[in-house]
Amino acid sequence: MPQSSSPIGVFDSGVGGLSVLHMLLAAMPNERFVYLADSANAPYGERGDAFVAARTHAITQYLCEQHHIKALVVACNTATAAAIHEVRSSHPELPLVGLEPAIKPALAVTKTGHVGVIGTRGTLTSAKFGKLMTSLADQAHFVVQPCDGLAHAIERSVALPAIAPGSPVPATETGALCQRYLQAMGGFGTGPGQMDTLVLGCTHYIFVAHELRALVGPDVQFIETGEPVARQTRRLLEAAGLLTLPSLSHPSDQPASREGQPSVQLLTTGPVAMMEAAAERWLNLPPSLCRSVSVP
Ligand code: DGL
Repeated sequence: MPQSSSPIGVFDSGVGGLSVLHMLLAAMPNERFVYLADSANAPYGERGDAFVAARTHAITQYLCEQHHIKALVVACNTATAAAIHEVRSSHPELPLVGLEPAIKPALAVTKTGHVGVIGTRGTLTSAKFGKLMTSLADQAHFVVQPCDGLAHAIERSVALPAIAPGSPVPATETGALCQRYLQAMGGFGTGPGQMDTLVLGCTHYIFVAHELRALVGPDVQFIETGEPVARQTRRLLEAAGLLTLPSLSHPSDQPASREGQPSVQLLTTGPVAMMEAAAERWLNLPPSLCRSVSVP
């Protein structure tokens, strides 16, 4: 049975879920986390449901058996769409949080009633997303755009120099893909008929927020799911009596200093150098936390 001293597992096809881990760390500073990037098999978005479901199952097993996780955050919209139901039924004891494109929260934000949704092909063509869209279709006009190749390009861009806020769209692979896909969607802005809200339906996409911003202008609202997912995870752990509370004798005691266990472990099935670069660039975490693992 899960114990409150155990870590929380977080998993994505690659480094995109680090955007969710960032929010989880902020919401639960006393917890330990094991993050697993399946970068050797990324991207999931164009792989098909059977492959993504099999990987999700293998990784859940690995995190349960090797790390005795007390909860799992599937920080990947594509894996959630393909496999969350199976994981829930094969691990009924495990508090489980998945991600889906936040089109419902977008309804509360849009004023023009025109909402753009970007994500992977796997997510946006899934039955799960189709059902969600059908239930909300009469409340706004949604423009849905699968962005083939964008998550993969973001994985590869980790080693490139960061884009400063406010810069023009750079002549990079990620910049060119963002431009191609957003242009295909139509007009962004706050005028009648324009999309004033953009749902980032893939955890990788927050890492090209500057490129997206340069294309849609300053007034379009971006909706992503990291923060609500962190709140939901905290709620689930609290309800299950599994939340780690600060120690009374040392209230500022961080898990990093307890029992010699780091508060964050960053595992990857791909090249460890990529995880090291991503951890430093996006989370300001040291390379010593990163390790490569094999999950057959
Ligand atoms: N980051 C993932 C998501 O949220 C998947 C990206 C991919 O591997 O295609 O959907």
